[in-house]
Amino acid sequence: MFTLDLFADQPRSTGERRQLGPGAWLLEGFAFEQAAELLAAIEAVQAESPFRHLVTPGGFTMSVAMTNCGRLGWASDLSGYRYSPLDPLTRAPWPPLPEVFATLAASAAITAGYPPFEPDACLINAYAPGARLSLHQDKDEQDLAAPIVSVSLGLPAVFLFGGHKRNDPVTRYHLQHGDVVVWGGEDRLRFHGVSPVKAGEHPLVGNRRLNLTFRKVTA
Ligand code: SIN
Ligand code: FE2
Repeated sequence: MFTLDLFADQPRSTGERRQLGPGAWLLEGFAFEQAAELLAAIEAVQAESPFRHLVTPGGFTMSVAMTNCGRLGWASDLSGYRYSPLDPLTRAPWPPLPEVFATLAASAAITAGYPPFEPDACLINAYAPGARLSLHQDKDEQDLAAPIVSVSLGLPAVFLFGGHKRNDPVTRYHLQHGDVVVWGGEDRLRFHGVSPVKAGEHPLVGNRRLNLTFRKVTA
């Protein structure tokens, strides 16, 4: 049932495709089968480019820890937000996009009705219990024709999906391990965020939530 499904915290291996907007879809369990492979790839990325807590231009340290892979990585510091081919921490290129990431992102985009998607950036977010992401738009990308593909692993979370203005009403969606959200087209610039993650223990991921966010930065 709709309501039970929305609030259940049990992993789901197959699921509904729920439309969240004209160009936005929640693909329940879409990445469930590849989770172990995705986690191994995240381990390899973080061995090269470790998770770190970035500082916002406003001087706040983010509660979510981040790293990147792919040709470009997203970073923030006191001087602003930017995409860069080098990891500012290691001064080396970000680790390449693992094949399993590229394949998953492309098939999720196709499933949501988008043309072939070749992301050049993947932000990896790690949420310890209590970590949250305040409402924001993904608008540092030049290519706004391509969608955003966002993969959830580990502890469940509440995804906040708002409108085009910061104060527009927000709908809450429960995201579970293996869920994928795709938003593009007229939904591409909608505000979104993540409520503070509740403590728990996920059998594969432990006491945290991981998220992969695929973007096409350069047109
Ligand atoms: C993001 O907006 O970068 C991440 C969203 C999420 O963690 O689900
Ligand atoms: Fe975002």
